[in-house]
Amino acid sequence: MRTKETAKSLYLKQVFSKEDDILRSIRNHSEKENVSYMQISAYEGGIVHFLSKALQVKKVVEIGTLYGYSSLMIARALPEDGQLFTLDIEQKSQEKAKALMQEDPSAAKIHFLPGSALESLEKLKAEAPFDMIFIDADKGAYLDYLHWSNKYLKSGGLLVADNTFLFGAVYGEPEKEPSEKALSVMKQFNKEVATSGLYNSTLIPTAEGLTVGIKK
Ligand code: DHB
Ligand code: MG
Repeated sequence: MRTKETAKSLYLKQVFSKEDDILRSIRNHSEKENVSYMQISAYEGGIVHFLSKALQVKKVVEIGTLYGYSSLMIARALPEDGQLFTLDIEQKSQEKAKALMQEDPSAAKIHFLPGSALESLEKLKAEAPFDMIFIDADKGAYLDYLHWSNKYLKSGGLLVADNTFLFGAVYGEPEKEPSEKALSVMKQFNKEVATSGLYNSTLIPTAEGLTVGIKK
């Protein structure tokens, strides 16, 4: 099973994971800081980019910036006048993200909002409704982020959430032990997206799990 999965990942990496110098420099920085496990992989970034492009989103919220890999993948899918508001508790990470992507013309579409996501989301109500919300931050807060999205995502808008397998824990094969809170929150998150009646949804079975929904 593991061998098969590795061959599959390698194939995806070889064929659908082209990274240019800027994306590579962001990945290198995450590796240097030992947080590359928290960063979206190249093919997952490709999926997020593809979805943003397919649904022609213009106004996006991203919860969890880290060093801006997915921010840039989304920003590149936006039209010239598109806007991405990206939130992260760590101001220093966002400063680094800005510096790493400054040469990219799409970086101009990104607004960096440092600090508590729940506080930033409160302020972002003024910009609603949004065409897309990408959730990739504190796993114990996914339900708060979902309930905000239920209100401020437009009809036809796209919900995307990373790590919704919670490292295997939601189906009983954890690769690392999550907190009890994160586990109950993630199970409830997926259940609500699937059954609330607010979304057409599925869970794309990437390595980490990518729950997606289109708001009805
Ligand atoms: C963690 C967070 C992520 O967003 C991710 O993709 C992988 C791991 C974490 O906090 O452990
Ligand atoms: Mg993630």
